[in-house]
Amino acid sequence: MAQYLNETSRTFSEYLLIPGLTTKDCVPNKVSLKTPLTKFNKGEVSDIELNVPFVSAIMQSVSDDNMAIALAKNGGLSFIFGSQSIEEQTEMIRKVKNHKSGFVISTANLTEEHTLKDVILLKGKTGHSTIAITDNGKAEGKLLGIVTSRDYRVTNDSLDKKVKEFMTPFSNLVTAELGISLKEANDIIWEHKLNSLPVIDENNNFKFFVFRKDYDNHKDNPLELSDYQKKLIVGAGINTRDYKERVPALVEAGADVLCIDSSDGFSEWQKETLEYIKSKFGEKVKVGAGNVVDKEGFLYLVEAGADFIKVGVGGGSICITRETKGIGRGQATALIEVADARDEYFKETGVYIPICSDGGIAQDYHMVLALAMGADFLMMGRYFARFDESPTRKLMVGGNYVKEYWGEGSNRARNWQRYDMGDTADGLKFEEGVDSYVPYAGTLKDNLAVTVGKIKSTMCSCGTISIALLKEKAKITLVSSVSIVEGGAHDVIVKE
Ligand code: IMP
Repeated sequence: MAQYLNETSRTFSEYLLIPGLTTKDCVPNKVSLKTPLTKFNKGEVSDIELNVPFVSAIMQSVSDDNMAIALAKNGGLSFIFGSQSIEEQTEMIRKVKNHKSGFVISTANLTEEHTLKDVILLKGKTGHSTIAITDNGKAEGKLLGIVTSRDYRVTNDSLDKKVKEFMTPFSNLVTAELGISLKEANDIIWEHKLNSLPVIDENNNFKFFVFRKDYDNHKDNPLELSDYQKKLIVGAGINTRDYKERVPALVEAGADVLCIDSSDGFSEWQKETLEYIKSKFGEKVKVGAGNVVDKEGFLYLVEAGADFIKVGVGGGSICITRETKGIGRGQATALIEVADARDEYFKETGVYIPICSDGGIAQDYHMVLALAMGADFLMMGRYFARFDESPTRKLMVGGNYVKEYWGEGSNRARNWQRYDMGDTADGLKFEEGVDSYVPYAGTLKDNLAVTVGKIKSTMCSCGTISIALLKEKAKITLVSSVSIVEGGAHDVIVKE
């Protein structure tokens, strides 16, 4: 007979935190959000600790090199999506590892044969008003000039006008040579009153832009997540099919941590993948596994060698797994059970396995709840997809700016490995995710600052200044649907 669980599967919106005693030294600027990413033994610390408890989802529409750079600078980490060729993925990893603060690889590039119309379209698509003009229209081509909004007047110029007729040509540009320091670049920017300084190599190949507006930002990233060589830390998604080729290539490219990406991780394929990685590379290659939603799944992957475990099936904003397959569990219920299993495992073995709550965070307060329920860090897709740094198009829909956001299980991503069921994987014909828009929200840095501020403030209300203390001391209560109404503005006419 089937086993029935005597529970209601619950999610974050059904819970609230009860304030604890806030002592006078419990103030937001004393709160630390440092948290372990990978397993460690009692009395030791994790080899990788995040400075904010967030990682960006292993998705085409969320985590490319650009997102990874922005998030690592702000203390979190991206897992670059694996649903692309090994070459493309390792190239993204290399770009993050080779990133030098303030030196930006241009993402808006055209040739001199393009037109003003192309410039305007590209500006709309990327949001960048400084466009590099190179011989091949790529970031690494020979630099021929730049176009900024000062070079054209949309009202006066024909849209067919060729870029070469109005760009600022190379001969009129102030440029710097590769090898220059950020400080020196900034001095040139100030001396010549520039907005951007192109950096080129000895053959005039374009390498980077240094922007005036960035300098202050770059001086000021106290939470930056970097390795012992001061290179940014980055993760990569892998699958249970081509891992024998993909993992060595990612390790060689410098990926700091890997994560098996699957909607249902409680499988022999994940075990085999973990065992292969640990036998070939030992403990020096860190790899997370999942997703699971109960103790059994957790223990299975831990025993196979996982360095952290991802929790969640069916809770993602773009996810329709529960509707199509009827599998899943309320995110809060899943998390509470797995966190309990993790604590028990720690007590018995002295090995702490961090857990990641993946998907379903719809409000900032859900983040604190997830941490209080035992998550060490959170994986989010929708949250990050809204920012300038996500890889998707920004569009105007119904008078509002939006960004595109699609699931890995949608026809658009075609990441069927994520839904690998062995011999049927190639034949999988149904979608488990949708293609959608999310409201555009601005820069990662600005949004993260607000979110982190809210989390710290809630933690202080709970009388805690660290995530470990929050887990220990939080008092959590279930809410009725009536009390949820009470929680919003009610019985008043809210002014528009
Ligand atoms: P979100 O933060 O609620 O948007 O959820 C993001 C999470 O949804 C990801 O980290 C994945 O675990 C999951 N996910 C990504 N793509 C799909 C999909 O197509 N179907 C189901 N789940 C998905």
